[in-house]
Amino acid sequence: MEKQQAQQKIAELRKLLNQYGHEYYVLDNPSVPDSEYDRKMQELLKLEESFPELVTADSPSQRIGGEPLDAFQKVQHNVPMMSLGNAFNESDLRDFARRAAQLTDEPISFVCELKIDGLAVSLTYENGTFVRGATRGDGTTGEDITSNLKTIRSIPLSIQEENTLEVRGEAFMPHQSFLKMNEQRQANDEEPFANPRNAAAGSLRQLDPKIAGKRNLDIFLYGVGEWQAGSLESHSERLDYLQELGFKTNPEWLKCETIDEVIEFVTYWEQKRPELNYEIDGVVIKVDNLTQQEELGFTAKNPRWAIAYKFPAEEALTTLREIELSVGRTGVVTPTAILDPVRVAGTTVKRASLHNEDLIREKDVRLGDQVVIKKAGDIIPEVIRPVEEKRTGDEKEFFMPDDCPECGSELVRLEEEVALRCMNPNCPAQLKEGLIHFVSREAMNIDGLGEKVIIQLFRENLVHTIADLYRLQREDLLQLERMGEKSTDNLLKAIASSKENSLERLLFGLGIRFVGSKAARTLAAQFETMEKLQEATFEDVVAINEMGDKMADSIVSYFAGDEVKSLLNELKELGLNMKYKGAKQQEIEDDTAFSGKTVVLTGKMNDFTRSEAKALVEKLGGSVTGSVSKNTDILIAGEDAGSKLDKAEKLGVTIWNEQQLRDVTDD
Ligand code: IVH
Repeated sequence: MEKQQAQQKIAELRKLLNQYGHEYYVLDNPSVPDSEYDRKMQELLKLEESFPELVTADSPSQRIGGEPLDAFQKVQHNVPMMSLGNAFNESDLRDFARRAAQLTDEPISFVCELKIDGLAVSLTYENGTFVRGATRGDGTTGEDITSNLKTIRSIPLSIQEENTLEVRGEAFMPHQSFLKMNEQRQANDEEPFANPRNAAAGSLRQLDPKIAGKRNLDIFLYGVGEWQAGSLESHSERLDYLQELGFKTNPEWLKCETIDEVIEFVTYWEQKRPELNYEIDGVVIKVDNLTQQEELGFTAKNPRWAIAYKFPAEEALTTLREIELSVGRTGVVTPTAILDPVRVAGTTVKRASLHNEDLIREKDVRLGDQVVIKKAGDIIPEVIRPVEEKRTGDEKEFFMPDDCPECGSELVRLEEEVALRCMNPNCPAQLKEGLIHFVSREAMNIDGLGEKVIIQLFRENLVHTIADLYRLQREDLLQLERMGEKSTDNLLKAIASSKENSLERLLFGLGIRFVGSKAARTLAAQFETMEKLQEATFEDVVAINEMGDKMADSIVSYFAGDEVKSLLNELKELGLNMKYKGAKQQEIEDDTAFSGKTVVLTGKMNDFTRSEAKALVEKLGGSVTGSVSKNTDILIAGEDAGSKLDKAEKLGVTIWNEQQLRDVTDD
C-alpha cells in the first residue's frame, strides 16, 4: 500500500476505533461486538507497523505499550488543585449556603455531584491531543503519570477542541475490578489492597504502564484547570460541554435551587450508595454560576464556592461470639471474628478478619463483646472497637495458643513479623491448603479436585503430599463420598493430564513464598528446566529483571531444603513434566469468557430468561450450578439479587451484572 493510501486508511481506522471506544467505555452502549473492535485494531496495528512514521501519540494503538519509567517527572499546576472544606451534617450544609448567600447578591443555584473516592488527576489537551496527565500531589506540584492514564479507556486521546484545556477528575477502580484483583493477589500470595481507592492510587503510581493497563481503572471528570476554550456561564454548562467533548462525566449530578434540595440529594445518595458499582465517600456541592464562584473566591485552603459533604462510614453493632483460627498455606495462623449476622452497607456480615494478636490486644476486643463493625472501603468487614459500656463482666480476653491448632507444634513469631507461624512443613492444615493451591486453576488446574474432595483425601489418609496425588488409584477415589465411577475416571484423567503442564504451573503450584503466577512464568521462561532453576544461585535470580532480593532469597532457600529435593525427585519419577513449554499467558488470555468456569445465576434479568442465560453460559464453555460456594467463579446477578449475592460478596466471588453477560455473548 502507498503511504498516502495508508495515511487515509489509518485516519479512518482511528476515527472508528475512537468512536467504538467512546461508545463502550464512556457511554456504556457499544454499537459493535468486541471482536469487531479487535479486528479494526489489528488492522491499524499492522498498518502502523508498516509505516512507523505515521504513528502519533493520540493513536488508539498507543494506550498500552509505553516503556517503564525510572521515575515520574514533576508537573507544575498553574491553576492549583485545591481540596474542599468538609460538611458532616445538615447544619454544616446550611451554614455553607448562608455564608455564600451573604457574599453575593443574586440567588444561588447549586450543582450536587457524587464525591468519587479515588485519585484526583488533571488531564491536559493541546491542539486537541492528550499531552499530559498528572496527579494532584500537594496541589501545586504533581507527578506526570501520562502513560498510566492513557491506559484508562474512557479518557479520550484526542478531542475536537483546538484550545489548550486542562480537565480534572477522579480516577477510580470499580468494585468488580477491585474484588477480582484482590482475589488474584491473594492467590499469588500478595497482600490485597485495603480498598478501591488505594488500589487505584497504587496502580497509577506504578512506573510500568502495563500494570495500570491491567487494572481496569476508570475516570469521571468534574472540573477544569487551565481553560482557554471560550467562556461558559455555569458549572452545569461545563459538565455538559465536557460530555460533548467525549469525556466521561458522572451521570448522577443534579442542579438544585435550594439548600433543602441539596439535603434531599445527600440523603438519597447516602442510602443508594451501596448500589453503585464504584466507591463514593460523600457529595460535592458547587455554586453553579461561574461569576458567583469568582465573587466568592477562596480561603487560604479551599474554595468558598464548594463544599464536600462526607458520609459517615456505615457501621453496625453486633456480638463477637467466637474467634476462629485458621492455618494458611504458609503456616500463618489468622484469627477470624465470628459475629452474629448483621447488615452493613448492603450485605450481611458474619465474619471479619482480626489479622493478628497484636491488633486484638490493641483494640482490646474480648469474646462476648458487643463490637462496632464497618466495611473498610465499604467492602471488607472490619471490627473497629468493642463497646466497653455494654460489658457485663462475662467477656473473656482472647490469647493466641502457643501451639498450632491443627498439628500441635509450637508457634513462632518470625523477626519483623506480627503473625504467628506454624513451622512444621508437615502440618496437615498447611499441606491441605498447599494442595488446594496446587490443584487450583492458575496452578496445575486439576478439574474435579475441589476443597471437599481434598479434605476427604486427607481424612482417609489417602494423601499427605503433592506426590501422593499422583499415586491415587481408582479404588481409593471410589470409596469417597459422592465419587461415582464417572467422576472418578474424570478426576484420574485430569490428574494424569496435569503431568504434562508446562513448568510454570508446577512452579506456581509448589507455593514458594513470594512466587506468584507471574514470577513463576518469568522463572520458567528464564531457566527452562526445573533442574537449572534448582541449581540457580541468588545472583542468577536477582539478575533477572523484576526479581528482587526477597524473592531471590526465598527461591534459593526453598530449593536448598532436603524435603523439597526429595519431593521434586518423586514428582519426576511419577512422570511430571519439568520443562517450560512456551508462552502460556496467551493461552489463558485467549480462553472464552466461561471456559472451565463455574457460574451461578441469580436475580431477575431483563433480556434473558433463566434458561436462556444458562444456555448462553454453557455455550461459552461454562457450567451453571445452583448455589454459591468457594468453587464458584462468577455470579451473574440480575435485579433484586438476594442471599446468593451476599454470599458471593463474602467469598470474594467475581460478580457480573446482566450487561456484562450481554457483552460477552455479543461476540
Ligand atoms: S471538585 C476545587 N468534585 O474530593 C476543588 N472533587 O477535597 C475541586 N472529588 O481532591 C474538587 N469527587 O479528589 C470535586 N465531583 C467531585 C469530586 C471531587 C471526588 C475529590 C477530589 C478532591 C476532593 C475534595
